[in-house]
Amino acid sequence: MDSLPKHIAIIMDGNGRWAQQRGLPRLEGHFAGVGAVRRVVEACRDIGVPYLTLYTFSTENWRRPKEEVEGLMLLLREQLRSQTPELKEKGVRVIVIGKREELPLELQEQIRQSEEETASNSDLHLILAINYGGRAEIIQACKKIIQAVKKGELDDIDENIFSAYLYTKDLPDPDLLIRTAGEKRVSNFLLWQIAYTEFYITDTLWPDFTKEDLLLAIEEYKRRKRKFGGLVE
Ligand code: IPE
Ligand code: IPE
Ligand code: MG
Repeated sequence: MDSLPKHIAIIMDGNGRWAQQRGLPRLEGHFAGVGAVRRVVEACRDIGVPYLTLYTFSTENWRRPKEEVEGLMLLLREQLRSQTPELKEKGVRVIVIGKREELPLELQEQIRQSEEETASNSDLHLILAINYGGRAEIIQACKKIIQAVKKGELDDIDENIFSAYLYTKDLPDPDLLIRTAGEKRVSNFLLWQIAYTEFYITDTLWPDFTKEDLLLAIEEYKRRKRKFGGLVE
């Protein structure tokens, strides 16, 4: 297989460890992680990868200390606010998936604005998973399906119909899932969508992740043989 992944998803992990190694507060690691986000977005645009999903805040990350959670929410809002004009100019469409109704109102408003201002772009779809959990996504899909059945709009489901009730309904499944900082787990990310996604795990901590690291992951992906349950020569 030689083709580029159409959709890359990244579990951006290791910000806390990056800060700890330097004797800095954990939030400094999240601030440093912004640089890696910029590099990866830029690289995907340059290479021509049309979908990039970044795991930004999980439904379980609320368990962290209040100071870290509040710092992350502020960082997200500030970054969306300051980066949106450039993203708009560069053909990037911002899409947010997750339980946005539980986020601080100011962040919800900024998300709405960023999505609206970039809605006509399509060079790169930048999907930010914020307050996202794969299980929560599946449950909310089931709830909507129950409603549709009660209203008499639906009387059966299949995989395609189910997918249409997920946050990712208009997006292709990820081809490549990258996790930084070495943990070998999925941490409730895109559970339904990664059924046949190729995994790539690197020990590099997220703030240190560069375009070269991304290219290495893509090179390895290109060498993989995807079989989807069938047989490949
Ligand atoms: C990932 O980095 C960013 C978020 C989960 C928001 P971590 O903060 O999980 O970094 P480590 O795992 O503690 O190093
Ligand atoms: C996954 O990282 C969530 C994000 C990167 C946003 P975590 O650091 O929260 O995952 P665990 O707790 O190590 O599984
Ligand atoms: Mg972590």
